[in-house]
Amino acid sequence: MTQTENLPAYPTLSPAELRHPDSLKWTLYGEDVIPMWIADMDFPVAPAILSALRERLDHGLGYHQLMGDRTLDRLLRAKLDTHGLKNLPEGGIAMLPGVVPGIYATVAALTQPGEKVLTMTPVYHPFHLSITTLGREVSAVALLDGPDGYRIDWEGLEAAAQDSKLMLLCHPHNPTGRVWTHDELERLRDLVVRHDLSVLSDELHADLRFTEGPFESFAAAERVRDRTITVTGPCKAFNTAGLGIGAMIGHDAGLVGRVRAAAGGLMGHEGALSVTMWQAALKDGGPWLADTVAYLRGNRDFLTDYLREHLPAVKFHPVESTYLAWLDLRGCPHAGDIQKFLLEDARVALHDGPTFAPESFKPQTQGFVRLNFATSREILTEALERMRRALDGA
Ligand SMILES: Cc1ncc(COP(=O)(O)O)c(C=O)c1O
Repeated sequence: MTQTENLPAYPTLSPAELRHPDSLKWTLYGEDVIPMWIADMDFPVAPAILSALRERLDHGLGYHQLMGDRTLDRLLRAKLDTHGLKNLPEGGIAMLPGVVPGIYATVAALTQPGEKVLTMTPVYHPFHLSITTLGREVSAVALLDGPDGYRIDWEGLEAAAQDSKLMLLCHPHNPTGRVWTHDELERLRDLVVRHDLSVLSDELHADLRFTEGPFESFAAAERVRDRTITVTGPCKAFNTAGLGIGAMIGHDAGLVGRVRAAAGGLMGHEGALSVTMWQAALKDGGPWLADTVAYLRGNRDFLTDYLREHLPAVKFHPVESTYLAWLDLRGCPHAGDIQKFLLEDARVALHDGPTFAPESFKPQTQGFVRLNFATSREILTEALERMRRALDGA
């Protein structure tokens, strides 16, 4: 199945264009390897962002509005309102040089060394790395693999919440692609109130959804909003990770201030071009984003069909969000070193499953890989064909 007909017209970049010396994704492995690991999209910059950046460069590159960029603040508030984060107070939004520093600062501010931080596993690796690096303890609960997708282990979570201080939530969830439903969010909210937990909700992937309806932030409900820090940024939806910027958001401005203060002066400030980029994304990026999500949805469906037809031993629950596919190859030969096998034999670079698990859960994720399908249909097809040949021959 290599046909690429019925593709929506969408601009993608070729390997030659993508292989810039600054591109981590495209230079870490040899030129004959298809890189499908780190979460960058192989797509050109949105035209609205490109023209705003060009215009900004005509005006020098001095300090931007360090005391708070009013335009960005206004645009962001309007956007967050649609997620249910309404009536944010003055001081309820603080800029970050990226989302990950916000995760570290929250763990540092809201817990003490030795205390337990609750999270689900597998999960985006800086979640458990921030906890262990800062001398806290990971209290992880494995997601359950149900017939229709990954589910929360409520019993496990309830038990682990008993002596935890903070919960790190990934919503939508990287790497399983789940968008937690209203009912799941309500149960999570009840749980954190019952156990008096603070919450960090990482909602960076919220705009890359294939589900219907508006996105519901964890902190959209009044009973949890004062205990929650939400972190977000433009870098996944608009593919701008090279221009780091993010924000932490809270209805309790004092809590946002505490988290910000925990980083002291170490956080630095976001760059002028990053501010311009995020403004342009929020103001004029909508049509580009809609086309991008449509293209990604097509790739997700193509990947799902391909695996069902040609690689049935690879288990996959189609993702509801993100362009990251969590593939279960535990039933395949070489499951014990699957990332290495696919790199060496298929010449496809994927993220190895254990990366996304804290130490004690790594064995459970051996045999999984995370595949980034935000690339041209042509490259995706070639990568899948390579994986099929390697696995068929194994
Ligand atoms: C859930 C999640 N949070 C944060 C990040 C990284 O954000 P930043 O580059 O702004 O630190 C990623 C990157 O893939 C992610 O998936």
